Amino acid sequence: MKSAAPVITRRQFGRTALIAGAAAGALGLSAAGVTGWRSLRRRQLYATATRADITGANSLAAHAAARGLLYGAAVVPSWLDVDGIAKGDTSDAYTQLVMAQTGIMVDEYTTYWKWLRPSPDRFDFSSLDRLMRCAQLTGKQARGHVLVWHEAMPRWFAKVATKQNARQLLVEHIQAVAGHLRGRIETWDVVNEAIEPGDGRADGLRRSPWLELIGPDYIELAFRTAAEADPQAKLAYNEFGIETDRPRDARKRDFTLELLRRLKTAGTPIHAVGVQSHLWPGLGGEAGRGLQEFIREAAKMGLEVQISELDVSCAGMKGKTPELDEAVARIYRDYLNLVLAEPNVRQVISWGITDAHTWLKTAWLFLPNPLDRRHLWTKIAEGLRQRPLPFDVDFRPKPAFYALRAAMDGAHRGERLTRASNEWQEPLTKNPLF
Ligand code: XIL
Repeated sequence: MKSAAPVITRRQFGRTALIAGAAAGALGLSAAGVTGWRSLRRRQLYATATRADITGANSLAAHAAARGLLYGAAVVPSWLDVDGIAKGDTSDAYTQLVMAQTGIMVDEYTTYWKWLRPSPDRFDFSSLDRLMRCAQLTGKQARGHVLVWHEAMPRWFAKVATKQNARQLLVEHIQAVAGHLRGRIETWDVVNEAIEPGDGRADGLRRSPWLELIGPDYIELAFRTAAEADPQAKLAYNEFGIETDRPRDARKRDFTLELLRRLKTAGTPIHAVGVQSHLWPGLGGEAGRGLQEFIREAAKMGLEVQISELDVSCAGMKGKTPELDEAVARIYRDYLNLVLAEPNVRQVISWGITDAHTWLKTAWLFLPNPLDRRHLWTKIAEGLRQRPLPFDVDFRPKPAFYALRAAMDGAHRGERLTRASNEWQEPLTKNPLF
């Protein structure tokens, strides 16, 4: 993810939005039917759900809330019909879908440094503010993603940042961004993907520009600065590749736990750990005891665990729709049954909501060298499309939607943590929730 992230414009989305008319019809929303064998076939595949079957009390957000969970999705702010929301009436199918299904929204990528900070001394909050306004108008919560990451950095960073000014760049960024949204963010992903066992350090830390410029305490610095900038938001460490029982994931989990323990021991204000949950079942490996133990260790530290970027890649999976959708749904079911049995797992975020837009379709383009054969695993078998999310390209609920909803119904019932309930000053044993 070195160069520009894909900005999806309304025009590119237009094709899908057109088709979406059919879905909206099926959902009992606006009209505009699309005929042809493809949509007819889809209609047969997915027994048509009426709008009432999947919205309101039957939505993902409502089923989550009934168990004390928070469900949400990563959204593309530019696609949200803010004016329509403000008027209380939108015919935009994407906006309707996001509004109907989520209790919390996260900006998928415009909070990255490279979008937010076009130059060292200029911040552009326009896109992020669009999302925040939708959240405010609809009473939804918002998650912040992300304050410190080694990817999606602006070009100027490599030229400008030095060992002398890096601390200041990091601190002023967090102060500006978390300060701008002070009091309005449920959880901030403060540091993302700081562990990379392959980099060979004894502490497992990734040799990122932040580490090279500031040293290992950049992580603690980030959390402390965020805690000051927003005294209300929960603060999370977010990581990927820690889900399955494969040795590679197990090793990364161990390093992640070590990091969390170090942070807790130092009295760092940290309240949650995000398990990204980009699942790649076609590449082998299943989530099991290892992840369960990880979640329990986090609980002992008073940390909430958040499933922060859930999707299921079809890379390497066999079969075609509808078998493929059923297989994806089984992964949703098994994975969520495992993690939602744990009382400290209280939040599930899908990384997108409709297959019309998923980072998985383009992820390989943003790898350091897209032509590198080692990265071919990011592509999918010929003739198959990525179908990782609860709704299909026509915005119809897929088997994954029903699997996700059912898994949340079976979740451990509990209270969501607030920042006050596990604030770092309190001895861990006094936490009433664990
Ligand atoms: C992805 C976004 O979805 C894309 O739009 C962007 O081009 C690249 O990044 N881990 C993360 C997310 O923490 O920020 C990434 O999101 C997916 C992997």
